[in-house]
Amino acid sequence: MTTASVNPSRRSYAPLARENRQKVLKHLEQAGITSGVLYLTGMKTEERKWTDCEVPFRQESNFFYLTGVTEPDCHLVIDVASQDAHVFIPKFSEDHALWMGPPPTETFIKERYGVQHCDVVDNIVKTLESLKASKVHILEQEKDLAAIGAFKDKIDSSALSTAVTEARMIKSKGEIELMRRAAKISGDAHIALMKAAKPGKDTERQLQALFEYECFRNDGRYQAYTPIVASGRNGSVLHYIDNTDPIAQDKRDLLLVDAGCEYECYAADITRTFPIGGKFEGDWKTTYEIVLSMQNAVLAAIKPGVEWEDMHKLANRVAAEGLLKAGLIKGDLDTLIANHIPALFFPHGLGHSIGLDVHDVGGYPKGVPRLTDPGLKYLRMRRTLKPGMAVTVEPGIYFVDAILDKALADSNVTQYLDVEVVKRFRKTVGGVRIEDDVVVTETGVDNLTGWVPKEVADIEKVMSA
Ligand code: GLY
Ligand code: MN
Ligand code: MN
Repeated sequence: MTTASVNPSRRSYAPLARENRQKVLKHLEQAGITSGVLYLTGMKTEERKWTDCEVPFRQESNFFYLTGVTEPDCHLVIDVASQDAHVFIPKFSEDHALWMGPPPTETFIKERYGVQHCDVVDNIVKTLESLKASKVHILEQEKDLAAIGAFKDKIDSSALSTAVTEARMIKSKGEIELMRRAAKISGDAHIALMKAAKPGKDTERQLQALFEYECFRNDGRYQAYTPIVASGRNGSVLHYIDNTDPIAQDKRDLLLVDAGCEYECYAADITRTFPIGGKFEGDWKTTYEIVLSMQNAVLAAIKPGVEWEDMHKLANRVAAEGLLKAGLIKGDLDTLIANHIPALFFPHGLGHSIGLDVHDVGGYPKGVPRLTDPGLKYLRMRRTLKPGMAVTVEPGIYFVDAILDKALADSNVTQYLDVEVVKRFRKTVGGVRIEDDVVVTETGVDNLTGWVPKEVADIEKVMSA
């Protein structure tokens, strides 16, 4: 039972995959589906275009969820009635062992992943025939059905995606532990950056390299997304991934780091923003404290039964209060909110579902439309919160040129702004975002990343050490 394509020391995902299969089948049963088969294709080996250089392999999330299989080019059939899982692996050429080491055997796959059957891909149709599949349920996104062409008339994509999505929305204890591990590796890497960052020293890219190094050496082989390491005004670009500028010279300037790795395919997504010289000051501190109060208000309010969009509205209201107090905006609080003034500074959604994907499945259940108000329209999720849901809480305040140029040219908007104060902040403050990953519990939240310093005193302490 040896193969070079699997790290034998890795903890087996098999028990979780079994639980996940049962959860998905339960959702299907509730939708009236008690027979037929499920059919999914795993991620294929990919190469850089027109080369034979392989792209590092990462399993497709739904396939991983149902199997734990980390080998490329596999397929899955689940017989709904018996719940048996059949994994199909490629027929490996004799050369495979030379370049890649011994390929996984059928016995290895069955033992490692706890599936009842394993066969080669060429035998999928034969298996479907022997199972007398009345229907072949596939994901809506599946396009490549060549392997089961003979079953074209029986294909049904109406139910499986919803069943898998609803199952993935509610994380099990085992999944939460994997997310906690991704959070731990990523949080430690954030702390390493807080300690390493110095005014005028290094580039954003060098700090990105440090983050990835810290994750990689601690088993976080893949980043869950491209790290954002934004110095000074670059923090005003929400998904700034160039990471090419030198770190600011002015010690009061902020560095915004939005980065997280995966552990066993489960994502962390953490943002911390800190002063490059280790001490919060002036307009930078004012902005930071507004965002911190937005996040704290939401973290205290999350519990089962709460609407996610109401959490966004809460953050937006706390932003309005902070911006008023800081003298950036003026007028009656409710009028400011009704006129979408806080959204000029908090232009994105509060957060999103997180799990096997950083922007995880299930943000919008079928039939739930997006809202249209500024800020709210970018919300990645509209759901009633339930225990087991994992979400990010990531409010921010930014001074975005594209938004402010337009706002400052519009007297309908400038009546609510102290233009000189806005211009002053915009000169030096890019943006502040604070992002944690939380699991909704029966009474509130389990904050997987809350231990990563974010209170002013805690960040200053870590940076002075
Ligand atoms: N890191 C991307 C996001 O926060 O959604
Ligand atoms: Mn996020
Ligand atoms: Mn993020």
